[in-house]
Amino acid sequence: MSVNKEIKKITTHTLQKMKEAGEKISMITAYDFSFAKIFDAAGIDIILVGDSASNVMAGHETTLPITLDQMIYHASSVVRGSSRSLVIVDLPFGSYQGNSKEALNSTIRIMKETGAHAIKLEGGEEIIESVKRIVGAGVPVMGHLGLTPQSIYKFGTYIVRAKEEQEADKLKKDTLLLQEAGCFGIVLEKIPAVLATEVSHKLAIPTIGIGAGSGCDGQVLVMHDMLGINIEFKPRFLRTYLNLHEQVTGAVQHYIRDIKSKDFPNDQEQY
Ligand code: KIV
Repeated sequence: MSVNKEIKKITTHTLQKMKEAGEKISMITAYDFSFAKIFDAAGIDIILVGDSASNVMAGHETTLPITLDQMIYHASSVVRGSSRSLVIVDLPFGSYQGNSKEALNSTIRIMKETGAHAIKLEGGEEIIESVKRIVGAGVPVMGHLGLTPQSIYKFGTYIVRAKEEQEADKLKKDTLLLQEAGCFGIVLEKIPAVLATEVSHKLAIPTIGIGAGSGCDGQVLVMHDMLGINIEFKPRFLRTYLNLHEQVTGAVQHYIRDIKSKDFPNDQEQY
């Protein structure tokens, strides 16, 4: 039997056991109560309240504009919809880069005001002090390396990261620093599969990949991408499990037709 099925509530310790048992970890983003409830009941291990909310919920081009207050709103809705999954919340851009005290204060707001179980933040060496301070305060921290969307203006593009030796070496160093600082896991975004596999073998803590190949200890996708809501986004790493865009369009067109033709509501659908 898998570690997963025996567990009533997923914790960071469960994830560690899954890695040790070779059981892959499943993770998906959610931003509201209703979808969180569906994903939790479906048995997902981790729900990430990603700052991708800035893109898929608010329509911004990047993740930079979303605020701490907005993340707290999304996260508290997700927490109300989940009972078994581990809920992790992204610290948004501008809420932790200043210094470790700022990072801890933002984390405390998230933990107090949402009921979430852990936070995630982007970066390596440059955020180690913040990771130590947050972990020291008793809050589980997940790292995020490779393509880090909050630094998009530094990179200039969303292409695969760490293909060159120098960047790959820095990434390897950063994974070890994050582990030593107390992270319980690390998201690896859009890096070569060979590199992600090497890092995943070397680390004691689990890695969760997105566009980082099958060697990671788990996988994460943005719900709008894997459900086929966001049809413009078609990167190679994405597998879509539903064409919700087409299905919702069809349903709404059907609804419009029924109203226009005076078919809806019928005698049974009124008081
Ligand atoms: O914000 C987000 O959705 C993320 C995932 C892509 C890992 O960080």
